[in-house]
Amino acid sequence: MLRTAARTLSRRVFRQTLRDFCEKVPRNLRVSEAISGAGLGKNVQIQGWVRSVRAQKANLFVDVNDGSCLQSLQIVASPEYNDPQLTFGSAVEICGVLKKSLHPKQPVELEAEHIHVVGECNPLDFPFKIKERHKLEYIRQFPHLRGRTNAFSSLLRIRSEAAWAVHSFFKENGFVQIHTPIITSNDCEGAGELFQIEASCPQNSEDDNFFSVPAYLTVSGQLHLEVMAGSFSRVYTFGPTFRAENSQSRRHLAEFFMVEAELAFTRSIEDLTKVMEDMFRRTTEHVLDRCPQDVDLFHKHVTPGHRDAVETMLKDKFHVVTYSEAINILKQSSQAFAFPTNWGCDLQTEHEKYLVKHCGMRPLFVVDYPYQLKPFYSRDNQDSPLHTAAAVDLLVPGVGELCGGSLREERLDLLKARLEEVGLEDTYSWYLDLRRFGSVPHGGFGMGFERYLQCILGVDNIKDVIPFPRFAYSCLL
Ligand code: 4AD
Repeated sequence: MLRTAARTLSRRVFRQTLRDFCEKVPRNLRVSEAISGAGLGKNVQIQGWVRSVRAQKANLFVDVNDGSCLQSLQIVASPEYNDPQLTFGSAVEICGVLKKSLHPKQPVELEAEHIHVVGECNPLDFPFKIKERHKLEYIRQFPHLRGRTNAFSSLLRIRSEAAWAVHSFFKENGFVQIHTPIITSNDCEGAGELFQIEASCPQNSEDDNFFSVPAYLTVSGQLHLEVMAGSFSRVYTFGPTFRAENSQSRRHLAEFFMVEAELAFTRSIEDLTKVMEDMFRRTTEHVLDRCPQDVDLFHKHVTPGHRDAVETMLKDKFHVVTYSEAINILKQSSQAFAFPTNWGCDLQTEHEKYLVKHCGMRPLFVVDYPYQLKPFYSRDNQDSPLHTAAAVDLLVPGVGELCGGSLREERLDLLKARLEEVGLEDTYSWYLDLRRFGSVPHGGFGMGFERYLQCILGVDNIKDVIPFPRFAYSCLL
């Protein structure tokens, strides 16, 4: 009996000692967790980068940010912790007790018991200055460091959340994600804006072509999605795409991310515009709901007033006009356009911007483009006297073209004739097979993900919404 009592007692002592030990070992917390109140009253460790240091007589205040949220965590320490290495930009690990703050601006603060500077940062050499709101054009010069600024870290959190929302939109709507290849032997858009791939050290002197055929970085996953739509009905892909466009414009990159969807058993453009509009709305509502502080930083300080523009975009159902109606609107305008507005001419950015303005700064679908303007896969509307294709572009304020899509030509004879006309019948014999073996009416679209972010945040230059921009004459890092 005595032995049992001793054993029970020692087990209790052991549990208490373990609990005391655990209480003392600081729990590692993200700043976002700490600010939301997790770990209040507990011993915690925070790891991050110093955003400000204020030494006062009685206390040292240090703000630390670890990229998990816009807000920094305020650290309160006794003045003896002040150290010349503890500067703006330095990396730190700080242990202490998380307490409720009396200051109305922050819910909690960390009473530091230990401060360790992991990596020094000379503030004189560091390109960003404490408390300064640098312009996007300025921080763009430092792609290796710009994640440390509030604006760019907010942007990347929004980007991450928007990408997540796109995936969940498709998952909830029964689409299967397909990893379409980055290396391909086709030029889906037929525009010849391809980056060709070659091995840096040829394998064999006789044939220095690694794949035996010319291979390129993909300009679109569409044709591979069409293959898969023929067995999964609804598919999508979301990945990097490449265009060798020698453009210095604010809406073109050589490498950008595209969201593409393909739907089988689709007979009308409205089936496509519905998915585009739903995806735009759902993703935007998700971002506004899940990243309120990050979005506010943009809508209040970086692009003031843009929140109203986003609300206008979301208010009503998106407009739809035919290409022919769009041409009429442009012809009736008093604005002098640099590019022609004749039927058969492609719509230029200036035209797209005018059309969006004409429709009250709301997103606008333009449908039924001249057949000759669209790639070989677009479905022939077989109309006359105007000859159009069942193609659609979504135009949005500030950006112009956000999405491009079409019904695909599923009729073997028509597709064969078009491929013959452009001399691509042999290259696309496998594509013709899709029309031979269980062909169905189908269609799809692609949305430029960077242009989407520009649109909802009001960012003028596409280089400011991608972590590492690639464009003509620039491939930093
Ligand atoms: O209109 P695009 O060229 O359409 C396609 O590639 C189709 N094959 C997609 C499909 O139907 N699956 O490109 C789609 C979108 C454009 O509307 C635009 O938003 C974006 O991709 N885009 C670019 N974004 C940034 N930089 C560039 N150079 C871009 N080119 C196109």
